[in-house]
Amino acid sequence: MIAFGLMQTHRMSEIRFPRAFRWGTATSAHQVEGNNTHNDWWAWEQQPGRIVAGDRSGLACDWWVHAERDFDAARDLHQNAHRLSVEWSRIQPETGRWDGDAIDRYREMLRGLRERGIEPMVTLHHFTNPLWFAERGGWERDDAAGLFARFVERVVPALIDFADLWCTVNEPVGWAFSAYVSGVWPPGVRSARRGMKALTQMLRGHAAAYRIIHQVQPDAQVGFANYFRLFDPAQAASPLDRLVAAQQHRFVNMTFIDGAATGRVRTLPWVVNLPEAARTLDFVGVNYYTRDMVSFDLRNPKQFFGRNYPAPGAPVSDGGYGEIYPEGLYRVLRLAAQYGKPIFITENGLPDDDDDRRPAFIVDHLSQVWRAMQEGIPVRGYYHWSLVDNFEWARGWSLKFGLIALDPATQTRTLRSSASVYAEICRDSALNPRMLERFTR
Ligand code: FCB
Repeated sequence: MIAFGLMQTHRMSEIRFPRAFRWGTATSAHQVEGNNTHNDWWAWEQQPGRIVAGDRSGLACDWWVHAERDFDAARDLHQNAHRLSVEWSRIQPETGRWDGDAIDRYREMLRGLRERGIEPMVTLHHFTNPLWFAERGGWERDDAAGLFARFVERVVPALIDFADLWCTVNEPVGWAFSAYVSGVWPPGVRSARRGMKALTQMLRGHAAAYRIIHQVQPDAQVGFANYFRLFDPAQAASPLDRLVAAQQHRFVNMTFIDGAATGRVRTLPWVVNLPEAARTLDFVGVNYYTRDMVSFDLRNPKQFFGRNYPAPGAPVSDGGYGEIYPEGLYRVLRLAAQYGKPIFITENGLPDDDDDRRPAFIVDHLSQVWRAMQEGIPVRGYYHWSLVDNFEWARGWSLKFGLIALDPATQTRTLRSSASVYAEICRDSALNPRMLERFTR
């Protein structure tokens, strides 16, 4: 489903991306490594009722021992980039203890990526916290940013031989909402006030990490992965639908990124001034999955009085994950472009176990990326979520996001056909006429 004009013009011709474009996939430590026993998610998974079907991350994709098996696959699939995260709780399993072996393992993994011609992007915080940190109040503590900064000071100098592209934190607003407002993630709090406190500390943590990284690696590029979701009023003529959609947009999409651009967080009724956070973005990381239609609904105060649902009749992905809406990627790239920085699409994908929608999803979304680039929007890379099926947080193993299917019990891997489609794109840095003909309507 690409825009009509684009379809007409490019039906048969090739869509070329720059040669230097980064083509890869994204993962996060807890979702793939296995046996992350020292973090808050591991503890959460042991509590009944927290994860769909009582699933646990367990061995996950066994990356702590065998990541290289999937790195080989990524290389064979012509990927030249990979976004992964380092697990704070491995590197600092207890408040006063640093684990040098864990750091060595990350050095080995990053070296392994580079040896395969895959350029890493390293995320420093992707949803999980060391248990000792969580038990002492986590991101609500006044010294949370300082504790995170100590971890950054330890880990970044050890990794600069193998990485210069850094993502401080992943989807801070989505994380704060799930952990502190809806309470479906640890620590399971339901208080918007406490959520804003945690989010403010995380913005401080981001700013501290930005400075630390630049001190040890002046040429580093540092950003964070912002969750962008589109909120469209169900009835464009309804002022209440429009108002609610605009509030959700402002909170979800803009709160943290505006904080990192300007040093001010403005999500009414909160206004927070953090001058140290201003101008702490070298690039904008865009995570994009879906959009919602929004109707005014008095029963949903936690969602700014909005009820959200997929556009009626629109294609949706597995498990009620949301509408498949490729044009949304073009729209969020325009939002991201306001900040005047290079852009990486740090995540984009869908749960699709039988892979009947993923090939077209990839081609359609990349067509929209190209459309944005034709308008001069400086997109530098695309990291598909994900390389291999992995532990999908509270949804456990029920959602399959991988180009490679995984049976977590046997660790058997099977390439999905979308993996080959994406491999051709990565190899040629282009969408060829054959795939445009086959997958776009
Ligand atoms: C994003 C998360 C990532 C993964 C995908 C499906 O919101 O950053 O860890 O769960 O969704």
